[in-house]
Amino acid sequence: MFQSLQALPADPILGLMAAYRADDNPKKIDLGVGVYKDTHGNTPVMQAVKKAESLILDAQQSKSYVGPTGAAEFNQVSAELIFGESLVSKLGKRRVTAQAPGGCGGLRLAAEFVKKANPEATVWVSDPTWANHVPLLGSSGLKIEQYPYYDYDSHSVRFDAMMETLQQVGSGDLVLLHGCCHNPCGADLSKEQWQAVKDLALDKGFTVFIDLAYQGLGDGLEEDVYGVRLLAEALPELIVVSSCSKNFGLYRERTGALTVICDKESSAEIATTQIAAAARAMYSMPPDHGAAIVQTIMTSPELRSEWDAELTEMRNRINSLRAQLVARLKDAGVQQDFSFIEREKGMFSFLGVSVEHIQKLVNDYSIYIVNSSRINVAGINDSNIDYLTSSIAEVLA
Ligand code: LMR
Repeated sequence: MFQSLQALPADPILGLMAAYRADDNPKKIDLGVGVYKDTHGNTPVMQAVKKAESLILDAQQSKSYVGPTGAAEFNQVSAELIFGESLVSKLGKRRVTAQAPGGCGGLRLAAEFVKKANPEATVWVSDPTWANHVPLLGSSGLKIEQYPYYDYDSHSVRFDAMMETLQQVGSGDLVLLHGCCHNPCGADLSKEQWQAVKDLALDKGFTVFIDLAYQGLGDGLEEDVYGVRLLAEALPELIVVSSCSKNFGLYRERTGALTVICDKESSAEIATTQIAAAARAMYSMPPDHGAAIVQTIMTSPELRSEWDAELTEMRNRINSLRAQLVARLKDAGVQQDFSFIEREKGMFSFLGVSVEHIQKLVNDYSIYIVNSSRINVAGINDSNIDYLTSSIAEVLA
């Protein structure tokens, strides 16, 4: 039976990661997959994480099962990180949070949950959006449509066009928004734009679904959730999928959560049973280790402040790399205006150059960039910035 299968092309992001690893050019640069890298090009384990792991190793008494929705304490600290303590208590039992295997697991869990609530639902995703949103959500059987989001000429959000399209979305459908640090374009909604989305959601009755994978990597832990909190406060229903991959550096530990806010407590009780059943049917239970690390850090004042300081350093480094890249491209004689990179947030921005230019950078210079021209700014460092900017200058000349 397996002979009937056709080989598939590599995933656009993970395939590039494998090609980079296999390249023996000493000058190679990885600006592909979204992982944070320090000034030496390493993705280190955060110190707060190391310390939490050692505490867990000493204290853990059992490896027995936890349950399909994961550890209650992890779910509580995750919700508090996203919404803040006062909003969590205000939402009370209208909120359900379930631990999930990473942000991807949370997105898929959300899709399965939505499918049960409305098998006919359409999820509206931004154009562009993260390459894995469509496979992750679409494989559950939900329909996917796009709304305009990024203007490649002005390097800004096409907010009027976005709102015009979202006028047609009604109750029973969902609008997927990036909570902060839009992946792939780095262009986020302003406070006024979040408010307008909130008003439209109230008016049209669609359900907002937020992917929050980069909290703390844009402007700050609180600043990055302005929109999430605004919507959680105002809307009767909301879905938020959060990831601990980037802000805790827990990538391979697969740590994330799905939060669903319901119109009333009794709906949330039912939602909890549906989420637990969906998790059980897919993977039974989420992995524990990453969640235990997050829980340990967030419940220890010392570890929490150490983690916060490390995260702040990561964020500041990314923001300073954005400024350096713009300045160094100019110094290298590149004519195009790249100043927009400094205005954008998080790990990613589009260079805004053609696929042919990207292919040349990958094949002739061993500079690994996704075909869309999305770069992971965190892959730049003092040792590779000269080679990177002079190579871009040569390719664009
Ligand atoms: C990315 O966008 O590069 C990351 O979120 C990693 C992934 O799984 O694609």
